[in-house]
Amino acid sequence: MSAALPHAPARALNNLVTQGWNQLARVYNSPVLQRVAYQPPQDEIIEQLRIAGIRRIADVGCGTGILASRIQQELAPDLIYGCDASVGMLRQAQARSDQVRWINRQAENLGLDDGAVDAVVSTHAFHFFDHAPALTEFHRILSPGGLLAIVLNNPRSRFARLLQPTMVQGLAYFPPPDEMRTLVEAAGFRITEQRPVRRPIPDQLVPDILTVARRG
Ligand SMILES: C[S@@+](CC[C@H](N)C(=O)[O-])C[C@H]1O[C@@H](n2cnc3c(N)ncnc32)[C@H](O)[C@@H]1O
Repeated sequence: MSAALPHAPARALNNLVTQGWNQLARVYNSPVLQRVAYQPPQDEIIEQLRIAGIRRIADVGCGTGILASRIQQELAPDLIYGCDASVGMLRQAQARSDQVRWINRQAENLGLDDGAVDAVVSTHAFHFFDHAPALTEFHRILSPGGLLAIVLNNPRSRFARLLQPTMVQGLAYFPPPDEMRTLVEAAGFRITEQRPVRRPIPDQLVPDILTVARRG
């Protein structure tokens, strides 16, 4: 990513979302928020990558770059991209690591070569994406047999009531687990695992689901 951070091409409502994240970027790294909400899914994703021995990875909707930087430090892959549509979030990410390749692009048009990576991972961002086009893009940039691992909240949980305002305004949509399977399979993937993320707090508080698949 260049120091000037060129703008990602905008989609209608997604532009609002990423502008919002520009504002939230400063508080996003707070230790409590990270420990309770964001770290457990990142631990799960790193374990998936470690077990599969994957060396070229894209973290899509990488935000402030915590997961991509952890992957860099803990797995020392050959190649790690951190991709996000928000310049504000990427500025925080850029300060975290100069070894991750930060890319200011939309998930639906990442600008990477066909088969450029062996894993696409995404935590707590997929609900903002245009789902089918994003999955088509992940399929395109993955090598055959490549790993897809996505974590997002389960809208069928009690916690889902808190998500309703964003869903109603069309800013985000959280596919329930069965719909997620259908979307992922329709894009040419084979689901290998789908289950709740393991957490140090009760599931009901942050009920997120890990979906893992392989590119056909
Ligand atoms: C809740 S943050 C999650 C960040 C990070 N994955 C984590 O777990 O800490 C959601 C991120 O998704 C990004 N985002 C939203 N829509 C996007 C899109 N269409 N393409 C790429 N990034 C997007 C936002 O800019 C924001 O940084």
